[in-house]
Amino acid sequence: MITFNRIHPKGDPKFARTKSGKTALVRRTCMPVSESAPPTILREITPEQICVLTFNRPNSSANVFDWDMLELLGEHLDAIAEDNQIKGVVLISAKPSIFIAGADLHSIAKYLDEPTIPADLANLIELGQDVFNRLASLPVPTVAAIHGACVGGGFELALACDYRLASNDSATKLGLPETQLGLIPAWGGSTRLPRLIGFPAALDIILNGKVLAASQAMRRGLVDELVPKESLLDAASRRILTRGAELRNRRAPWKVRLINLGTVARTAAPFVHTKVAKKTRGHYPAVLKAVEVVTQGIDRSMEESLALERDAILELAGTDATRNLIRLFLLQERAKRLGAANHYSLGGVSSPGGGSGFEATPTLPRVSRAAVIGAGVMGAGIAHWLSSRGISVMLRDLMPEFVARGLSTIADLYAKGVKRRVLSSIDARKGIDRIYPVAGESPLNVDLVIEAAVEKMDVKKEIFRRLAETTSGNTILATNTSALSVSELAAATKSPDRVAGLHFFNPVHRMQLVEVVAGSETSPAVVARLVRFVQDIGKLPVVVKDSPGFIVNRILMPYLVEAGNLFEFGARVEDLDEAMLDFGMPMGPMRLIDEVGVDVAHHVAVTLAASFPDRLIVPDVLDKMLSGGLLGRKSEHGFYLHNADRPDVNAGVNLFRLNDSAAQFSRAELQKRMVLLMVNEAARCLEEGVATNAADIDFAMVMGTGFAPFHGGPLRYADALGAKQVVAELNHLADFGESHFKPCGLLAQLAERGESFYGKKGGSS
Ligand code: NAI
Repeated sequence: MITFNRIHPKGDPKFARTKSGKTALVRRTCMPVSESAPPTILREITPEQICVLTFNRPNSSANVFDWDMLELLGEHLDAIAEDNQIKGVVLISAKPSIFIAGADLHSIAKYLDEPTIPADLANLIELGQDVFNRLASLPVPTVAAIHGACVGGGFELALACDYRLASNDSATKLGLPETQLGLIPAWGGSTRLPRLIGFPAALDIILNGKVLAASQAMRRGLVDELVPKESLLDAASRRILTRGAELRNRRAPWKVRLINLGTVARTAAPFVHTKVAKKTRGHYPAVLKAVEVVTQGIDRSMEESLALERDAILELAGTDATRNLIRLFLLQERAKRLGAANHYSLGGVSSPGGGSGFEATPTLPRVSRAAVIGAGVMGAGIAHWLSSRGISVMLRDLMPEFVARGLSTIADLYAKGVKRRVLSSIDARKGIDRIYPVAGESPLNVDLVIEAAVEKMDVKKEIFRRLAETTSGNTILATNTSALSVSELAAATKSPDRVAGLHFFNPVHRMQLVEVVAGSETSPAVVARLVRFVQDIGKLPVVVKDSPGFIVNRILMPYLVEAGNLFEFGARVEDLDEAMLDFGMPMGPMRLIDEVGVDVAHHVAVTLAASFPDRLIVPDVLDKMLSGGLLGRKSEHGFYLHNADRPDVNAGVNLFRLNDSAAQFSRAELQKRMVLLMVNEAARCLEEGVATNAADIDFAMVMGTGFAPFHGGPLRYADALGAKQVVAELNHLADFGESHFKPCGLLAQLAERGESFYGKKGGSS
């Protein structure tokens, strides 16, 4: 084990002894630090003259780069460069599961609503490039000793080192996810990674925003060696002492040098560009920029290539797509931390944009034991997820064979997780062991019950009535209903204050969003505990008022119903789907109905139509498909035939058309109708206080339905168009006798006042 006993020369004003006797830089740090807090970057020298820089951002579980941390690193590097006794530098993190998680996106949040890109951002990019260049040009070997997440700017730092050692731990993940946020790696990542592994392999990582497990990263050449996390520092120091000169003077393998010829890259560029543009339908400018920067920069000087990176990222930062993607990232971060109290004031329109100022929920009793009632699609999915997150789960259904079917689904989910290396087979076994199967009623001594039985009010009422009688007053009773009234359900019990909705989405293991539904009698403490519970199990909560369909199904249904009606009146399945793929949805509405199940979609549509008969008329085609056993993917027949790899349109459903009055609509017209209905319904949700702010609605729609993320959600999209235009287009459609397009009051009001959902006069922000 390495010991530290060399103190930096006394008299250097930048250094002082810490309590432990080690040397530490004590100038400015990123956050106010209490006296006992460790410095953001600790610099120590071993007896073998190896300098160890330990990243440890105070008051945070993560290390992230902001202006202060970059400057601080720069100062350390200057001091290292001046010390000619140092034989090498090791960069390591003190955090348990994060090396460096990239740039601090909160520090650029303030630029998001600026009309132009402020000079600050250019300065930040240049500072990062400069500091990493200084690291790369130190005269001694440098080794990144990586344990935990090493992504974005963190991986760019590692790329600037001569050698990358990573722990072979499941917490270690490496990659460049910038394009997912509409950015490109611009602290040298788009320049150094291609030079390390070849531009085609680097493009694969950058364009797909890939983050790889340590073993994959090793196979792809992102890291040089894997070691146990306990011996990272020792191994890094030994490599410097035994192979220092070799590490310093390494060249890329000949295969990489051969492929990295400028002529090769520039010949490939148009093909890659076309492929990427087709895949993204031109909606994500960052990937196209990344192709340009990597292929143009490959045979330029470091300086020129870095300038390409900088110009590209500054251009991207000004686009709506990038701003929306960053906003969504920040909303995800907010959902991970926010306390329910901060947005639990449902009942009317409050801050439309959803401001900042969220605080963490104070300590609440954790859920450690849960029961899931109903072992069908959702019950099994929920029980699997909870058990995989360490919660003991009783899984209950009416008959042993139903429970057995649920257990077999769960075993399959675990097996797939092991195959995809999401978890080890030991963890999978432990997860399965946390599930207690029960057929019929039995005593429930748990913190939380999640009911996922059939979507029938009378069945659910009976279940809840019994649950309220047989559980302790501290047990929360939650329903996973898609569209039934939580308040009505609660009223059937003798303790409605502990009844709430907990709406998971299908498939549970993939969908991060959970709607936490507050019924009219639900106590705020129950909502707060549920928000905390959702966060604890690694999902993202959004608190919604009890109203038909909550947020996601409420806004999605008018869209799916319109698609069904347009189909009945002659629009082609492929035109409807392509129109919405063009808009940026991950799948078209007809395909979505097939995936969800025609029976499920029909049921939710009928339930919602009963609440909103003025604007939702469920198309007969769904009923007819149901009667004919065309249930979508689950029966292999729906709007598509699902018995091949690429589903073909099922011509058989054309029999269910009524006439061809919609056949002449262009894809753009189809798209406009379907999108505007979502916008209108989203505005209604805000108007009625189903959510307290526009951001929650947009967030729920992107996370729950994949609503074109680069548009930022239906209300952001409306702001980009401007309320005036949205209202004019809706009115235009309504004037032709289609009253379901009539704009809601809030939209009309915003249009009249020249305001927008996100609170600025004049529309887009
Ligand atoms: P499912 O039909 O696959 O499973 C329901 C299960 O509940 C069956 O195994 C049934 O035997 C059991 N069950 C019925 N009565 C029971 C009782 N009294 N006690 C115990 N178990 C009982 O249904 P699915 O799709 O899992 O839906 C369950 C709930 O989740 C519904 O409320 C549904 O609206 C909701 N939901 C469904 C989604 C989906 O995509 N399938 C998505 C989100 C919510």
